Amino acid sequence: MKENLTRRQWLNTGATILGGSILGSVAGVSPLKAATKSLPSAPIRMMFNENPYGPSQVARRAMRKAFGEANLYSMRGAKAQFKALMAKLNGVTPDHIAVGFGSGEILKKAALMNGIDKGELVSPALTFETINRYANTMKSNVKRVPMTDDIGINLDRMADAVNRRTKLVYLCNPNNPTGALMDTDELKAFCKTISKKAIVFVDEAYHEYVMDPNYRSMIDLVKAGHNIIVSRTASKVHGLAGLRVGFAITTPETAKRMESYLTDSLNIVGLRAAIASYQDKKFQTYSISQNNRARDVVTGYLEAKGIEYLDSQTNFMFIKTGMEITDLQPAMEKHGVLVGRPFPPYTKWCRLSMAKPEEMERFNSGLDKVLG
Ligand SMILES: Cc1ncc(COP(=O)(O)O)c(C=O)c1O
Repeated sequence: MKENLTRRQWLNTGATILGGSILGSVAGVSPLKAATKSLPSAPIRMMFNENPYGPSQVARRAMRKAFGEANLYSMRGAKAQFKALMAKLNGVTPDHIAVGFGSGEILKKAALMNGIDKGELVSPALTFETINRYANTMKSNVKRVPMTDDIGINLDRMADAVNRRTKLVYLCNPNNPTGALMDTDELKAFCKTISKKAIVFVDEAYHEYVMDPNYRSMIDLVKAGHNIIVSRTASKVHGLAGLRVGFAITTPETAKRMESYLTDSLNIVGLRAAIASYQDKKFQTYSISQNNRARDVVTGYLEAKGIEYLDSQTNFMFIKTGMEITDLQPAMEKHGVLVGRPFPPYTKWCRLSMAKPEEMERFNSGLDKVLG
């Protein structure tokens, strides 16, 4: 008891010292509370294209239920259920689906197959890098095709870059980091022609966010038997990025080959959450409409200021701030906003992920101060 009292007394003395000499004291308010109040709130994540609302309540319930299965190895049932659901939602049979640890793993497996087959990869100069990096790991030759003047994917030059050694062609639609869509008819024609020579990989990670009525997924070409891989993910509109669930829709032969390269089993919590979330239309609609509102907050500001940006069909935007991104990043962090990495050679552009609409004001006012 005596020892306890002494310890408490010592702690009280410590708090007083801390309050007096380090944190400063405010009349009537505990020093610690005052100090916490004066700290800026945590920076807002606008750098990884995450969904600020996920996971949905429906997915959370499924996850809690799945804890009870977490001691078991067997998840064949859940995986088959997930594949059957993805097949049904996309109008194919389950043998067209290959599941991965996020769509990132699907991209890596495509690069792995290309490496094993000693093929070359053709990829746009400015795009999502996972497949290119893994192709480098596989020591494959990667041909990067320059963008058009308006930072679009140049399909003519992509087609020209394909030769006898090409076994894989990567396209991201909408593209990351630009958020821009390719013309549907041009993309379709490209896929039909080029898939006779190599596998065409169309990354549709942001498919659900697209608002353009002319947009079409390339899944129809898979259904028609073309040599195409379309990838999708539970990480974006479903807000399950940390659980690592993604999938490919492709020919049954490619799906089987991809599945054979799976290095382990998926996790049961992720599978159960994804199964629940893909059936939860309400949450998807909510996430999309909030994303559109957030984008409106930013575009309204950019328009008013005359700052150039690309039309985005995703949950992020590519903005020409005119400031080197390596300078802009720390400057924005001081204003409580974390923005995307550099995308050379477009180093005076910034990729900005959408947070909640009410949080986007912090980006607007931060950029205003930083750009003066
Ligand atoms: C275009 C694109 N594809 C794939 C991914 C990978 O996502 P995940 O591995 O979480 O499915 C991302 C992640 O940001 C992305 O932007």
